Amino acid sequence: MKRLISVVLILAMILCCSACGGNEEQKANSSSDAASDKSTAPISNQEKESEKNNTEENKGEVLSKILVAYFSATGTTKSLAEYAADILNADIYEIVPQDPYTDEDLTYYTGGRADKEQNDPSVRPAISGSVKDMSQYDTVLIGYPIWHGQAPKIIYTFLESYDFSGKTILPFCTSHSSGIGSSANNLHSLVTGANWLDGKRFAAGTSKEEIERWLDENNIKPNEAPASAEIGKFDFEKKTVLLNSGYEMPIMGMGTYSLSDEECYKSVTALLESGGRLIDTAYMYGNEAAVGRAVRDSDVPREEIFVITKIYPSEQFANPEKAIQNALDKLDIGYIDMMLLHHPGENDVKAYLAMEKFVEDGKIHSIGLSNWYVEELEEFLPQVNITPALVQNEIHPYYQENDVIPYIQNLGIVVQGWYPFGGRGHTSELLGDSVISEIAEAHDVTSAQVILRWNLQKGVVVIPGSSNPDHIRENLDLFGFELTDEEMQQINGLDRHEKHDWY
Ligand SMILES: Cc1cc2nc3c(=O)[nH]c(=O)nc-3n(C[C@H](O)[C@H](O)[C@H](O)COP(=O)(O)O)c2cc1C
Repeated sequence: MKRLISVVLILAMILCCSACGGNEEQKANSSSDAASDKSTAPISNQEKESEKNNTEENKGEVLSKILVAYFSATGTTKSLAEYAADILNADIYEIVPQDPYTDEDLTYYTGGRADKEQNDPSVRPAISGSVKDMSQYDTVLIGYPIWHGQAPKIIYTFLESYDFSGKTILPFCTSHSSGIGSSANNLHSLVTGANWLDGKRFAAGTSKEEIERWLDENNIKPNEAPASAEIGKFDFEKKTVLLNSGYEMPIMGMGTYSLSDEECYKSVTALLESGGRLIDTAYMYGNEAAVGRAVRDSDVPREEIFVITKIYPSEQFANPEKAIQNALDKLDIGYIDMMLLHHPGENDVKAYLAMEKFVEDGKIHSIGLSNWYVEELEEFLPQVNITPALVQNEIHPYYQENDVIPYIQNLGIVVQGWYPFGGRGHTSELLGDSVISEIAEAHDVTSAQVILRWNLQKGVVVIPGSSNPDHIRENLDLFGFELTDEEMQQINGLDRHEKHDWY
C-alpha cells in the first residue's frame, strides 16, 4: 500500500514540479497573504499558516532534567554516581581523562602525576569526549574523589568547559577521611551564575539508601517522564503544549513554505518581533539557512524559539544522517527543536531511526511525522522506538480529519495543521464562507482568526504562513476571544472531506 502511495506521490511530484516551475512571482505574491499556504508540502501550492503568541512564554523549554557527572580514578565515586543517576532517573556522564591515570600516577606523596597536578594551580588535564547538549540540564550533580584535600584538577577542566549559569550544582565526593570542605568552595569561582548547593562527602561503600536520603534532604527530585495526562493538553495561558518528548512547544507559529530567502528572513524576524516563537521550515522549502540567520540575528534567546524542519524522500531518506547533518548545518542554531519526515516514502523507517540517533546525541530534541494518516501510522509505529511527538497534516474547515485527529491525539501525539485557510486557490472561498464570516463579525475578529482559534480549541497547533507583518501579528492575536460550543459545531458542519493537496 505504502509503495503504491510512494509511486503516486513521485508521479504527483513530477507533475507538480513542472506545474510550479517558473511560477515564482505567483508564489511570492501569494506568500504575502496570511490566508494561504501550508508548512509541509513543498511541491505544489502551499502557503503558510501560523499564529503565535505575544508573550515571552513560548519557550521550547524542557522539564527539569538532571545530569550526574563524575570523575572516579578507582571506582569508589563511580558507584555512588550510578546510585544517584538511578534514583533520579538522570543522565550520567563520566569525566574521562584523555591521558588515563596509571597506578603510579595515583600513588600520592611520591611527587607523581596526581601530586604534581594538585600542586600546580594552572594545570587543567584534558577530558576525552564531552556532554551532549549541556543546555538541556537544569541540575548537575558533580562527584569526585578528594585528592590532597581538593577536587582533582580534571574537575576544574570540566567546570570551565560549559556554561552552568542558571543551573543548580550539587557536589559530592568520596575520600579516606577528608571532608568536602574547601574542595567544593574552591570550585565556585570557576563557574559564574550557578546555584551551588552544599556538598557532601561519602565513605567508600556508602549504601544506595543513604544516597537517596541525601538527595531527598537536598530536595532533588527524580526526573519524571511527563505525566501522560499533561501531554498534548494546550495551556492557553502559556500558549504552549507539552510534547511526549518532555519539551514544550508553542501552540501557534508561522510556516515558511514558498518564502524566498530574503522574504523568509524578514517574515521570521517580524514573527519574532511580534512575540511569535514557533517556526516551521523544511529542506524542500529551500529556506532553512534564512530561518537560521533570522533566529541567530534576533535578540530572542535561542531556547525561547522552537524551530521545526523536515527531511524529504527519497534521496534524503536513503542517506538520512547526511540529510539531518545538512539541516543542522544550514540552520546553524545549535540544535533542532523538532524534525519531521516530510511524507511517507521508501526508507522512511530508516530515516526515522536515524533521527532517533540524533535525539540521543542531543542534536534534535523531538521528532515526528508529516502527512501520516491512520493506516500509515499503524504500519509505521511498531517499527520505531520513539513515539513521534507531532504529526503535521492538512487540516482546515473543508478538510477536518475528524477521524484522524482523535486517533493521533489518543496516542499522546500532538497534531499540527497545515493549510489552515484551505491552501492556494481556496482561501478566498474559505475566508469568505458565510458561516465563518458571521462568527468573525460577532467577535469583531477576522475569518482567519476564527479558523485559527477553531483549530486551537480542537487541540490542533497552527502554523499559518505569511510574509505580511500585519497578517503575522493578526495570526498571533487569538486569545482575546473564544468560540462557543455552538460556533465550534457550526464550523464542524462545514466539513466536505475535501483535500486540497496531494499528500
Ligand atoms: C592522589 C590522591 C590523593 C588523595 N588525597 C586524599 C586526601 O587528601 N584525603 C583523603 O581522605 N583521601 C585522599 N585520597 C583517597 C581518595 O580520596 C579516596 O580513595 C577516594 O574515595 C577515591 O575515589 P575514586 O575511587 O572514585 O577515585 C587520595 C587519593 C589519591 C589517588
